[in-house]
Amino acid sequence: MLHNNMRTIIISFNFFILLFTNTFAKGEGIVIHNNLQAIILAAGKSTRFNTGTSKLLAPLCGQAVVVYPARLFHELGVEVTVVTGHQKEDIESALNAQIESGIQYVHQAEQRGTGHALLCTKDMWNKEHIIIMNGDMPLVSPEIITKLYTMHIENNAAISFVIAPNDDPSFASYGRIVQDGSSIKIFEASEFRGLPIPQDYPVNAGVYLITKDFLVNYCNALQHNNAKNEFYITDLIGIANEADKNVCTLTASCDDIRGINTLQELVTAEQIKRTQLLNNFMKAGVRFMMPETNVIDLDVTIGRGTVIGAGVHLLGKTKIGEQCTIHPYTILDTATLEDNVTVHPHSVVSHSIIHAHAHIGPYAHLHLESDIGKHAYVGNFVEVKKSSLGVGTKAKHLTYLGDAIIGSRVNIGAGTIICNHDGKRKHTTTIKDNAYIGSNSTLIAPITIEENAYTAAGSTINKNVPASALAIGRALQVIKEGYAHKLRGTQPATPVTHTKPATKAPEDV
Ligand code: UD1
Ligand code: CA
Repeated sequence: MLHNNMRTIIISFNFFILLFTNTFAKGEGIVIHNNLQAIILAAGKSTRFNTGTSKLLAPLCGQAVVVYPARLFHELGVEVTVVTGHQKEDIESALNAQIESGIQYVHQAEQRGTGHALLCTKDMWNKEHIIIMNGDMPLVSPEIITKLYTMHIENNAAISFVIAPNDDPSFASYGRIVQDGSSIKIFEASEFRGLPIPQDYPVNAGVYLITKDFLVNYCNALQHNNAKNEFYITDLIGIANEADKNVCTLTASCDDIRGINTLQELVTAEQIKRTQLLNNFMKAGVRFMMPETNVIDLDVTIGRGTVIGAGVHLLGKTKIGEQCTIHPYTILDTATLEDNVTVHPHSVVSHSIIHAHAHIGPYAHLHLESDIGKHAYVGNFVEVKKSSLGVGTKAKHLTYLGDAIIGSRVNIGAGTIICNHDGKRKHTTTIKDNAYIGSNSTLIAPITIEENAYTAAGSTINKNVPASALAIGRALQVIKEGYAHKLRGTQPATPVTHTKPATKAPEDV
């Protein structure tokens, strides 16, 4: 359908998505004028996700899906309005937890389609240009937004929107761009009504930059007489085209515009994001022994020269210094590791800090704000909960340290247990510098072991131990010679000399 006198201009921009640098990702150097506001559509029911929880709340590299578009615009300095409805409270609190200020919410009480979600925001339209984006798109880069904005302004467009080549069968549910001469329209997959969906048409990404004037004048043209009985935001393209307004398209890569409708699509998008994160770290000098086995969250940082083993999970706000080694199958969740730390295999560290040159594991568990000093050593099957260990302190085997303040160069013997809970409340244990806790000691909190003090192996210690003292708290050993013969009614081969039971505890520890 070609109309020679049509004023409609369809402008397509193809561009190669560059591997963006950190500077670009943070939005530095990008000029987005303050005549732009963003609307994120996040009220949908997530029917295809089928988990009972909105897809927008699903964590992707540790961050809820809906936070990605909100953070993208927030970091570009663009005012953000989010349309919420289904599981509204949870979605708003996920956003508020990540973005400190400035998100406005509009309620869509009934989910009547993406066009209807947009119409719900009418009272909020206050900038010259409005960018609308589906809330389920976590992979859109800042460059796409700035390119779209630049193209839109330069071409004086009424609507500019992002499209992508359609070379992946997983895009079957996407809207298709049907272009014929100067006519352009989006057909929703559901509108093909049983006909084969043309595979060679590009897909609609779900990002639209629209001038406020056009929206105000034409939004009422949206209808819901379609297969789903919904208002489709995508109909605005055909409406603009028929009204002879400028419509521009920007072509991005399929991977950058992936939306999430199903759990399979969530996995695909997360793999893409994770690969981007891992590649950026490799460029920054971090060695991953088997990167395909690592899990890494968005806000993790890792210093150069660090080596990450197979199956390591780096979660939350974990920060790892330079020249560290994290051996296989360790999980670090919001852990801070200074430089030159070694974490041996199968350890779990959460919400704790490990200072330089310390060794952790194998099979260690550190949690609840534990603080491990420089050159300290927390060995196998040791749990450290809400405790601090000073410089060079060692707890190498089979130990529980809970609610303890432990000084420097302390030696915690194998099997030491701190009894921090009296059945009702938790109490603190203080162990001062250079103390030596004998193996299998049981320290009943609250208790203080002063500097240079010793506890004897196998002791139950429930009174404070003065500096440089030895505390022994165990049953005295009794030897009953020949007892086995008495029990079995047999005779000893040689006469037995009976010794008196020890009356003094041995001095060893
Ligand atoms: C939409 C587009 C399709 C495009 C695809 C890209 C429409 C009609 N179709 O389809 O052309 O190829 O995105 O991923 O827009 N939402 C609301 N309120 C509603 C319905 C949806 O806020 O009443 C929100 C959803 O929470 C979601 C977003 O809008 O974040 C998009 O909705 P979704 O159902 O995922 O649209 P698609 O079918 O993927
Ligand atoms: Ca979608």
